Amino acid sequence: MQEQLKEWKGCKLAKNANPVLGEGNPEAEIIFIGEAPGAKEDELGRPFVGTAGKFLDELLTSIDLKRSDVYISNVVKYRPPDNRDPTDEEKAQCMPWLMMEIALIKPKVIVPLGRHALGHFFPKMSISDAHGNAQKLTDEITILPIYHPAAALHNGGLRQSLYDDFSALKKHLKERSAQPVTSNQ
Ligand code: URA
Repeated sequence: MQEQLKEWKGCKLAKNANPVLGEGNPEAEIIFIGEAPGAKEDELGRPFVGTAGKFLDELLTSIDLKRSDVYISNVVKYRPPDNRDPTDEEKAQCMPWLMMEIALIKPKVIVPLGRHALGHFFPKMSISDAHGNAQKLTDEITILPIYHPAAALHNGGLRQSLYDDFSALKKHLKERSAQPVTSNQ
């Protein structure tokens, strides 16, 4: 996919930015989905390696997870100029890449980080209402929305909320693993 994305010209952001695909454990049960790469991500070609990424690492550590346990990606695969919000068109154009990542990883839990990723799964929900609450997408997949880590860098009041939501994620993972495995046979 990395190689294919380098050749892809389906989004005009590709003219002035480097491709940033998701990365992480191909066997991950959890996928975190951010908005779009920032300057550091564009420079290094990797997701969440700047300031927001450092905070995401801290949040993962707070629930005893490492980046190598999970998969981390973005809705949009190229940095929008000056970190502006991605447009609906850019999100729609890049969406097939995220859908392919989800199809390959087959996560049990999807964590949209912030409103752009949440909007794809639940277009009518606001992140301030939805964060911290696990919702079933299918029998197999739960969505647990969380504020974007960068939001807490601008609004310190959200920091605790992010830690609390990661605790809710930990609790959800624990409950999931305690559920008996069902079989059709
Ligand atoms: N913000 C995002 O949404 N994604 C990144 O990869 C980095 C910052």
